[in-house]
Amino acid sequence: MNTPAAAARTAPAATVARFDMYVSIHKALRHFMTDTLHRVGRLDVTDADEVTRVLGQVDTLLTLCLDHVHNENRFVHTAIEARQPGSAARTAEDHVEHLESIDVLRHETRALAGAPAAERNALALRLYRHLALFVADNFQHMHFEETHNNAALWAAYSDEELLGIHRSILAALPLEETLLVSRWMIPASNPAERAAIVGGMKAGAPAPVFAQVVDAFRPHLDETAWDKLARAIGVAQQPGLVDVR
Ligand SMILES: [Fe+2]
Repeated sequence: MNTPAAAARTAPAATVARFDMYVSIHKALRHFMTDTLHRVGRLDVTDADEVTRVLGQVDTLLTLCLDHVHNENRFVHTAIEARQPGSAARTAEDHVEHLESIDVLRHETRALAGAPAAERNALALRLYRHLALFVADNFQHMHFEETHNNAALWAAYSDEELLGIHRSILAALPLEETLLVSRWMIPASNPAERAAIVGGMKAGAPAPVFAQVVDAFRPHLDETAWDKLARAIGVAQQPGLVDVR
């Protein structure tokens, strides 16, 4: 297990800025994972609507994690192994464990959904603890990818090539997943990152698709964050309006 002290000892004091294909999607996943974990921890198991809503969020999170593993295997690990054979082995092994964890968590989610009232508290606590282990495991894993795997990618590829790989990943995402990722990624990003990501979408996506993306994340930004973003990318600042000025 990595720790902040160990990471601080091995981190370079300063790095040349390179294209980092992990940073934004991992901010989205950290945000989605922690929000979901909190919701399971405070779940009122006597409230049927809340149980349905929160277990639905768990299911959506697990599906996104599954797709994320497949996308990294298909695009990122393939790229690393093509030029740095063996360098993706550790995270590829982690991914196998993640798929097993996702299966277990899905089983526990279904068990809670179908449990009689007297058993729900115990099953909710089990799901909370095991989801917490999954989140902890993923946080360790994502840090390794952002350091070790990025070092392998940066040694073997130019930023232009890495941008090409990243574009291939984005092009493979169904719209529904792009909207879901935007909902968690944009609020989790800093203003400069938001402007780059959303500005890129505004330039590259058809207007109706861009409007759907904005609708997905807009309710989750506060007014200050939205004003900064709207100014940076040149859209109307009134809530709900995304007309290009
Ligand atoms: Fe991964």
